[in-house]
Amino acid sequence: MLRFAWQQLLRRGSGSAKCCSTASGKVNWNVDVDKCAEASCALVDQAAELLKEANKEIRVFKTKANNQDLVTVTDRQIEDLLVCGLRRQFPDHVYIGEEGTSGPATGRQLTNQPTWIIDPIDGTVNFVHGCPYNCISVAFWLNRQPELAICYCPTLQLKLTARRKRGCYLNGRQIRTSGQRELRRSLVLHEMHASNMGDDHRDTLWAMTVNLFCRAQTLRSTGSAVMDLCLVAMGAADAYVEFLPHCWDVAAGALLVREAGGAVMDPAGGELDIMSRRVLATATPELGCQMVQLLADSQIYHKRDDQP
Ligand code: IPD
Repeated sequence: MLRFAWQQLLRRGSGSAKCCSTASGKVNWNVDVDKCAEASCALVDQAAELLKEANKEIRVFKTKANNQDLVTVTDRQIEDLLVCGLRRQFPDHVYIGEEGTSGPATGRQLTNQPTWIIDPIDGTVNFVHGCPYNCISVAFWLNRQPELAICYCPTLQLKLTARRKRGCYLNGRQIRTSGQRELRRSLVLHEMHASNMGDDHRDTLWAMTVNLFCRAQTLRSTGSAVMDLCLVAMGAADAYVEFLPHCWDVAAGALLVREAGGAVMDPAGGELDIMSRRVLATATPELGCQMVQLLADSQIYHKRDDQP
């Protein structure tokens, strides 16, 4: 089954292989999105083999910014494989990767240019503990909008793909969100960070969590922002909210949810800005409105991903 999972992503559009948008404000890039899909699918398959094998071993890690921010040899191996492989075929594209493909010193800028946004392993803490909720996430953006998304969790055999305006697929089968509109009937996913936020933010987050816990049907946390977005796209969860995810955590998953019929936005209700470190994804726009109302007093703003 998984062997066929890429076919929907690779199915060539009728004469639309070249993406040359001319809409106002957009740049007329001559990008072959079919070729991008083909190249990224093949590389993600290779990377997934690495991740699957590494999930069977004892994982040695180093800490980065704090005790909850980890990196392993596998994170770096996978990022190298993906970035080097893509760069060979698309040398003039921009690359933003979690493990330093673009240096934090200059900030990571999302421009109109063709841009790959890569998380080699999302859910690294899970991975280190042998918890299967860890996956690879690759997104391709053009003119500041997502064109392609691939999220692959090899341990659970979940391979989700989406292409703008062509739907979202799980292991080759088209999927939709749950369609849930009511918060009181919703399974809500929520990720929390303790070590890199001050006491004020921690109190706000805690108050929001209690509020959600009382108003939703139930609250869960997987430890992987990408997996959370996949679960909303699959209809296995109804909503996901997080303050502080990075752009590589949401760049692919946002397209999956939208193509599955869901809504992705800023937790204050505005347009999603993947550099803002804030995200809300819901099965329906109606559920999105209810979540935005509930979150109105619990907004957290942090240093953006594109700030040096
Ligand atoms: C983290 C995980 C975590 C989420 C963080 C992410 P990483 O990614 O997705 O669940 O709460 O926002 O940064 O470090 O495991 O790749």
